[in-house]
Amino acid sequence: MTNLLINVDHVGTLRNAREETFPDPVHAAARCEQAGADGIVFHLREDRRHITERDVRLLAETVNGKLDFELSTEEEVVSICCDVVPDLATLVPERREEVTTEGGLDVTASRPRLNAVTDRLYGAGVDQVSLFVDPVPAQIEATAAVGANCVELHTGDFAEASTEAARREEAERLAAAADAAHETGLRVHAGHGLDYNNFSLFRETVPHVAEVSIGFAVMARAILVGMDQAVRDMRATVANAQP
Ligand code: PXP
Repeated sequence: MTNLLINVDHVGTLRNAREETFPDPVHAAARCEQAGADGIVFHLREDRRHITERDVRLLAETVNGKLDFELSTEEEVVSICCDVVPDLATLVPERREEVTTEGGLDVTASRPRLNAVTDRLYGAGVDQVSLFVDPVPAQIEATAAVGANCVELHTGDFAEASTEAARREEAERLAAAADAAHETGLRVHAGHGLDYNNFSLFRETVPHVAEVSIGFAVMARAILVGMDQAVRDMRATVANAQP
């Protein structure tokens, strides 16, 4: 079955908006795990706009399932990741002006830096290193060439497609990328914009998906129905979707 990892960044966004100590992403992570999440994702941004170093340390101590540390290649953040040694490190592009991660890494253009960071992460004891990329063959090839053993396919264009036909076309692009990644020996992850409505089309079209990372849809629902219910609903959505 596809692993469901829940991203708790938005809990930190809400807390920091009021410069408060609550709601706490660490408490939220525990709730997510109790409700059936296989693991927790966070992104330690260079500007610390949601997750802080305190959160990282506590999440590393308290998360029982899989811990996915999303990061850019900035030196200080890479050092923290090497110190924490999560189960999975996912390298993502980062721009300070963006509201959320806007697209995949250009791996072909940054191979030496990504290669060096990937090696450092393995050297620190991180078992799985993933690169977040658009579903483009050249990026998949470059991901394997850099030495990552996982790839996270960016599902944003699929999620944002405005017509059914466009969404199906994006799902086919993701399927071709997943096939190519699987053939190269990469473990396939996916995320960005996946939700309760679009997941079944995604999963019935895209093969080899070992893991998905979902944040906004679950946190948005949690505000209205509670975290337990929101995670359980997503757990069921992922479990019921057929490849
Ligand atoms: N995967 C990556 C690499 C991301 O940057 C994000 C957004 O934080 C997600 C998955 C989750 O996206 P969403 O919050 O839209 O579910």
